[in-house]
Amino acid sequence: MLLKDKVAVVTGAAQGIGRSVAELYAREGARVAVVDVKTDDAEKVAAGIREAGGQAMAVTCDVSDRAAVDEAAAAVKAAYGPIDVLVNNAGVTRPAMLHKMTQEEWDVVMGVHLHGSFYWLQAVVHDMIERQRGWIIFSSSSTAQNGSIGQINYAAAKSGMLGMVRTAARELGRYNILVNAVAPAAATEMTLKIRTDPRFADGVKRLPLRRHAEPEEIAPTFLYLASDAASYVTGQVISVDGGGMMVR
Ligand SMILES: NC(=O)c1ccc[n+]([C@@H]2O[C@H](COP(=O)([O-])OP(=O)(O)OC[C@H]3O[C@@H](n4cnc5c(N)ncnc54)[C@H](O)[C@@H]3O)[C@@H](O)[C@H]2O)c1
Repeated sequence: MLLKDKVAVVTGAAQGIGRSVAELYAREGARVAVVDVKTDDAEKVAAGIREAGGQAMAVTCDVSDRAAVDEAAAAVKAAYGPIDVLVNNAGVTRPAMLHKMTQEEWDVVMGVHLHGSFYWLQAVVHDMIERQRGWIIFSSSSTAQNGSIGQINYAAAKSGMLGMVRTAARELGRYNILVNAVAPAAATEMTLKIRTDPRFADGVKRLPLRRHAEPEEIAPTFLYLASDAASYVTGQVISVDGGGMMVR
């Protein structure tokens, strides 16, 4: 088991990529906190993990609320002990063209991705520094590198996350804390419209692998980055996108 006895927090784990990461981490021996705003769905994911013989707790938390994050982190620590692995995965989109985007659409996307990641970093980093161990993984996006029409908020947030990854990797490397990102592309609720809209069908055909991925195909890279196998990897972004970055 690659994560035996590690305590892992996965945000946005009630569905999609986060759910798949939480389930895989639990199968690999981690005690997993399934963190999400969707209480019922998070409970279901945690219950499913427990039924399968793993260890998991559901924690309701809006990651854009600092007090909620601090409370959630304290609850995980009380139940499972200090957090070894943090996956900043919670995500939302609020698409709109630049000239039509509302302040609310901008603020929500910044709040979840940037503020939420920052709050969780600060909630776990003191223990990690003290214990001289930690694995931090962000869900970024190819949008950070390429931009995306109608997504200036999301592109800015995902680019900002990469700035956080590289800075935290530099600051925390001396404490044996690794900080990396995955840039995924998977079939989830978030990408449902793109998958089903005929206007985007050509995009799939241009992918070297010529199909969309399931979340289960993304999770193993998160496993690798949380495992001892990645002990000399930090400050990196790994694209798991069927070769999409290469052909843009
Ligand atoms: N699916 C893709 O192709 C793709 C591509 C690039 C990046 N990503 C990123 O990967 C991550 C996971 O995406 P997904 O496709 O699984 O999306 P998803 O919409 O299926 O799941 C996102 C989860 O985040 C949770 N969430 C949203 N706001 C939250 C908040 N304020 N606090 C706590 N939880 C919150 C949602 O409830 C949901 O469970 C996101 O950060 C997304 O931006 C996904």
